[in-house]
Amino acid sequence: MSSERAAGTLDGRTIVVTGAGSGIGKATAQLAAAAGAYVVAVDIKNQDGTLSEILSAGGQGEAWTLDISDRDSWSSVVEGVLASRGKIDGLANVAGIVSDADALTTQTDEGWNKILGVNLRGAFLGMQSVIQPMLDAGAGKIVNVASTAGLIGMPNTLAYSASKGGVIAMSRQVAIEYAARNIRVNVVAPGVTQTAMLGDITEDLLSAVTAATPTGVLGTAEDVGNAIVFLLSPLSDQISGQVIPVDGAWTAQ
Ligand SMILES: NC(=O)c1ccc[n+]([C@@H]2O[C@H](COP(=O)([O-])OP(=O)(O)OC[C@H]3O[C@@H](n4cnc5c(N)ncnc54)[C@H](O)[C@@H]3O)[C@@H](O)[C@H]2O)c1
Repeated sequence: MSSERAAGTLDGRTIVVTGAGSGIGKATAQLAAAAGAYVVAVDIKNQDGTLSEILSAGGQGEAWTLDISDRDSWSSVVEGVLASRGKIDGLANVAGIVSDADALTTQTDEGWNKILGVNLRGAFLGMQSVIQPMLDAGAGKIVNVASTAGLIGMPNTLAYSASKGGVIAMSRQVAIEYAARNIRVNVVAPGVTQTAMLGDITEDLLSAVTAATPTGVLGTAEDVGNAIVFLLSPLSDQISGQVIPVDGAWTAQ
């Protein structure tokens, strides 16, 4: 079991996970806790449920309601965590949203602003909120979750692709800016992953995606969470500014 392999790699570390109420963020929070982290589970909903499960499993942490697109909420969470823990060792920016199918001709300003506001600006605000405490501590790990849609062209995902491509570019910039100060910034780019985000995707479409995936297997939230936990851990100290697709070799084609 992957969580056993990772046991102890995050011992004593305080790790903030956004999107912790569901899917990849929830799996990341649980895997990080299993690896020894004190997990700060944040989301606009269901974060308390994730924390309960972590505590029941013998892990440690706290939960906060946070809209990642709200600067003031970020300040409250970071101040609160610093007051209780004294440091923030890692941030996993996992929370994100998808829009209805949008292409160049159908994209509205409203939809554009909503997607970019959460997926891109939310990751920006998260990084900006934790960077000073990390610099003060002389170390920090940030993992931003993008998507294979930020790496290759996909139909009907205009604003979403732009937001995820932006996350990748922004992460590289921050990685370079703080590389010499022991801050590591990396990106995990999931392919199609079995979470609530898939919504009412049909079985036929899921089968088609699975068949088109070189490994022949559809990724799980845990597959992505394991990559995130690795990048939050000391096992990845020499890796920064990189994008790791977790996509069953989809983007290797
Ligand atoms: N599932 C996929 O196929 C897939 C593929 C590529 C990338 N991703 C990315 O993975 C990340 C996680 O997605 P998931 O599949 O776990 O989806 P999910 O819908 O299961 O979970 C997303 C979580 O983000 C939270 N969230 C949404 N807006 C928020 C906000 N403004 N502030 C705080 N929390 C907010 C939601 O409440 C939810 O708990 C997203 O960034 C998504 O774009 C997912």
